[in-house]
Amino acid sequence: MDRPTAPPAVIELEGVSKSFDDTRVLDDISLAIPAGQTTAIIGASGTGKSVLIKHVIGLLRPDVGCVRVFGQDVATASKAQLYALRRRMGMLFQDGALFDSLTVGQNVGFPLEHHRKDLDEAQRGHLVEEKLEWVGLPGIADRSIASLSGGQRKRVGLARAIIMEPEIILFDEPNSGLDPLTSDAIDELIIDMKRRLGITFVVISHDIVGTVKVADHIGMLYEGRLVEFGPTHQILRSSNPVVMNFLRRNLDTSWLAALNAAGTEGVP
Ligand SMILES: Nc1ncnc2c1ncn2[C@@H]1O[C@H](COP(=O)(O)OP(=O)(O)O)[C@@H](O)[C@H]1O
Ligand SMILES: [Mg+2]
Repeated sequence: MDRPTAPPAVIELEGVSKSFDDTRVLDDISLAIPAGQTTAIIGASGTGKSVLIKHVIGLLRPDVGCVRVFGQDVATASKAQLYALRRRMGMLFQDGALFDSLTVGQNVGFPLEHHRKDLDEAQRGHLVEEKLEWVGLPGIADRSIASLSGGQRKRVGLARAIIMEPEIILFDEPNSGLDPLTSDAIDELIIDMKRRLGITFVVISHDIVGTVKVADHIGMLYEGRLVEFGPTHQILRSSNPVVMNFLRRNLDTSWLAALNAAGTEGVP
């Protein structure tokens, strides 16, 4: 149970199960994601991480159980309520989901076209430029998406996700397809955005090294179940064999040596 000092949960899952055909992808998942912190959901490919996040934005509905965001049940929300919820959340899909036919600036400003009709073009342009600066890409609003590197695409995606100044950002695989240096830069951006804007991040990842750097809390999915959930340092010391195996496979030996030298027990 949460101690009185724990921040309130902004996303809550209660007994969520989801099957496709006869395959159960999520199996009785319960978790509470605290406000203003970064929570990572880790697990091997195909364990249901993306499916879980799609429940949070209402793209999928649970067969059983309940998903609440800001206290609102997503499955029973009216269209207008869901629309209002989504305005408070930024989502970065795994493949970036940028529109190739639009410029960088048009991509970043896209949510404003729909949600901020009160702003004129100059005001929107100003917000777009500001967000591009925040992600370290000033002055590229007129570039084409095709001209961007993988890391730049992720940054542009992040700029688009923060343009509505959301309270929550859901980031599916921030490090996938990136070289280690670019990957580090994205991790730094996540840390910076959390500090600067107080945004709640939910990061979905199979990359444990990046995750350990950015996450305050980690939940691990395995065969559809949430096998462990807690503060990052606690997960690193987990004696759960499933978690230990995942860490052993995904953390390189220098990391493990450093953890052991720091007196971290439970990590092999
Ligand atoms: N819309 C869907 N219809 C049928 N099966 C799906 C659908 N979405 C995901 N799945 C299946 O659910 C499982 C988990 O997928 P996913 O959440 O994408 O895994 P990951 O942990 O890699 O993000 C996979 O076996 C996938 O094929
Ligand atoms: Mg996925």
